[in-house]
Amino acid sequence: NWKMNMLPADTINFIEGLAPLVKDSENEVILCVPYTDLFYAWHTTEGTNIHIGAENMHWEEKGAYTGEVSGQMLKSIGVEYVIIGHSERRAYFAETDETVNKKIKSAFANDLKPIVCVGESLEQREAGKTEEVITKQVELALTEDLDGLTPAEVEQIVIAYEPIWAIGTGKTATSEDANNSIKAIRKKISEIYGNVAEDVIIQYGGSVKSTNAKELFETSDIDGALVGGASLKVDEFAKIVNYNK
Ligand code: PGA
Repeated sequence: NWKMNMLPADTINFIEGLAPLVKDSENEVILCVPYTDLFYAWHTTEGTNIHIGAENMHWEEKGAYTGEVSGQMLKSIGVEYVIIGHSERRAYFAETDETVNKKIKSAFANDLKPIVCVGESLEQREAGKTEEVITKQVELALTEDLDGLTPAEVEQIVIAYEPIWAIGTGKTATSEDANNSIKAIRKKISEIYGNVAEDVIIQYGGSVKSTNAKELFETSDIDGALVGGASLKVDEFAKIVNYNK
């Protein structure tokens, strides 16, 4: 997750540097980049094993929504993934569980895979409410209106558990805490959608770097990472991808 960083020329350089370093990895590599970099990213990743994602989308197909970008638009330029409900969008841009749910449905309608972010604040953690907060966010994201999603769709979702206090702060949840939160999320998904919960990719995010990636990834339930700051440097990001080499 590059957030609001990198210009098109940086994007091309980054991908040309990264591609040879991760080409033999069995781990899936997705770069979620600003809208203005998407086309360049798609073009430069052609023929590599790197996938492209956007950082946000609007839930409507088209219309009078000045400044917004739809799922259909993303799909038309080679985008495969889209981050939905990042805590920065929830905090600064009025994203709610309801808009997160609408965006997830629209992502599927446009054949995009959603990377859905949930996570508790420091205050909620200190009040002992972590599990309650994150499982409620997951429930509302996946079932806001009563139609919900199909189990086949749920299986395709990527969830990113990102404790807000760990994002960009250098503070990481312990691998045990992160793993327990992810187990709680998986349990909630299985209560709603059954066995598919086992196949849902649930990642940890929040100050992941090459020095803590291995410990996180070797836990029972953490399936990957949503990497912010450390994804802006080719070598550092490649080390995270290649943590098991
Ligand atoms: P960070 O960001 O790795 O810089 O903490 C993670 C994120 O916000 O997705």
